[in-house]
Amino acid sequence: MAHLNENFLKLEASYLFSEIARRVSAFSKANPDRDLIRLGIGDVTNPLAPAVVNAFHAGVDEMASESTFRGYGPEQGYDFLRETISEHDFAARNAEISAEEIFISDGAKCDTGNFQELFAADSIIAVPDPVYPVYVDTNVMAGRTGTFADGRYSGLVYLEGTAENNFVPPPPDTHVDVAYLCFPNNPTGATATREQLAEWVAYARAEKALLLFDAAYEAFIRDDSIPHSIFEIEGAREVAVEFRSLSKTAGFTGTRCAFTAVPRSCMVYDTAGNAHALHDLWNRRHCTKFNGVSYPVQKAAEAVYSPEGQAQVTALVDGYLENAAVIRSAIQALGYPPAGGENSPYIWVQTGGDSWEFFDRLLNEAGVVVTPGAGFGRCGEGYIRISAFNSATNVQTAMERIAQALG
Ligand code: MLT
Repeated sequence: MAHLNENFLKLEASYLFSEIARRVSAFSKANPDRDLIRLGIGDVTNPLAPAVVNAFHAGVDEMASESTFRGYGPEQGYDFLRETISEHDFAARNAEISAEEIFISDGAKCDTGNFQELFAADSIIAVPDPVYPVYVDTNVMAGRTGTFADGRYSGLVYLEGTAENNFVPPPPDTHVDVAYLCFPNNPTGATATREQLAEWVAYARAEKALLLFDAAYEAFIRDDSIPHSIFEIEGAREVAVEFRSLSKTAGFTGTRCAFTAVPRSCMVYDTAGNAHALHDLWNRRHCTKFNGVSYPVQKAAEAVYSPEGQAQVTALVDGYLENAAVIRSAIQALGYPPAGGENSPYIWVQTGGDSWEFFDRLLNEAGVVVTPGAGFGRCGEGYIRISAFNSATNVQTAMERIAQALG
C-alpha cells in the first residue's frame, strides 16, 4: 500500500489562485452574459516585446537545422545568459554576483518552493504575513509545521506586515534559521529601504540565519533610493539567496524563465556546526532534478537585456505602473486607503470586514476579479489586492464599475 505524506492533509483544500479560479468559473457558468475584468492573479496581458520575439524565433530556427541543433544544455543555464544577467542585474548595481552563481530556471515559484529542500526538518522558518502562499505551503508539505488553526500553521514564525510598519516587518526578536522576504512585496506592494534591508542582513549575520529574498517584482522600482537586489547591501553575500523572474519583468508568465543567485560565500551548517557551501548543495539538487530551460527561451531571455529589449520591456512595465496609478487614485477617491502600487504592480486596499465577502461583492456587483487579502494570511483579513496587470481600458472600466458598485 502506498502511504500518504500526511503533511499534505494539513494544507488548506486548494491553492489560493485555484480557489479564486473555481469561484470565478462558477460565477461565469451561472452568469454567461457577464463580462469579467480580471485584476486578480498577477498575470501579464501584453504580448512579448518584439526584440524578445525575434530572438525566440531565431532560437527555434537554430533548433531546426542539423548544424545548430542542441540537445540537453547545461542544467544551470547557458553561459551567454548567466553572464548577461551577472553584468546587467548585479554588476551594474554594484552588487557582486558572478555568472556561475546564477542558476537559470523555469520560474521563481518553483525555486522559492524548492529551495527549502536544503534545510533540516527542524529548521525554524520565518514567513511574512501577508505572504505569497508558496513559501508557506512548501514548508507544510515538508513537515516543518504543525496544524492550521485561526489562519496560521503552528511551528512557523510569522513576520507581521501591518499599516503600522508600512508592511515592512522588522527582524524578529527571537532566533530563526531561515527567513523569506519579498520586496517589492507580493501582495502588499511595499518596498524596503536600504536601511531596512541592512537591518535584515545584520540580523542574519548575527543569527547565522539565511535570507531567502524574492525580488520577482524589482523591475517595477522607479524610486532610485530603493535597492533592487539584496546584494546591494554590504554583507549580504554570506547570508542571502535571491530569486528573480522574467515573468513580470518581461511578460514571461507563459514563456517561463527565471533565475536564482546563490553566492559561493553563503554557508549552511550541519549538526556538528561544520559549514557547507549552499551553492554546491543547490547545484547538486538542481542537476538531479532539472534539465535546464529550453534554448530558444534562454535566447529570448537574453534579448530582454539588449538595448532594444530593455527599452521595450521598460515600456511594458511603465504601462502597468500607469494602471497602478489609476487604481490607486480611484480607490482613494472611494475613501479606501491604498498601499503599494507606486513601485509595484499590486495595490493593497484596506476594506475592513471579511475579505472573501468583499471579493464576492466585487465579482457579483462589478464583474471585477480581485484577490481577497485573507488568502495571503491572517494579516490580510480586511484587505483586498488589486493587480495592475491588464489593459489601460480594462483597468479604467473596472474602476468605474467598482465605483458604481461601492458608491
Ligand atoms: C500572484 O498573483 O501573486 C502571482 O501571479 C503568483 C505567481 O507569480 O505565482
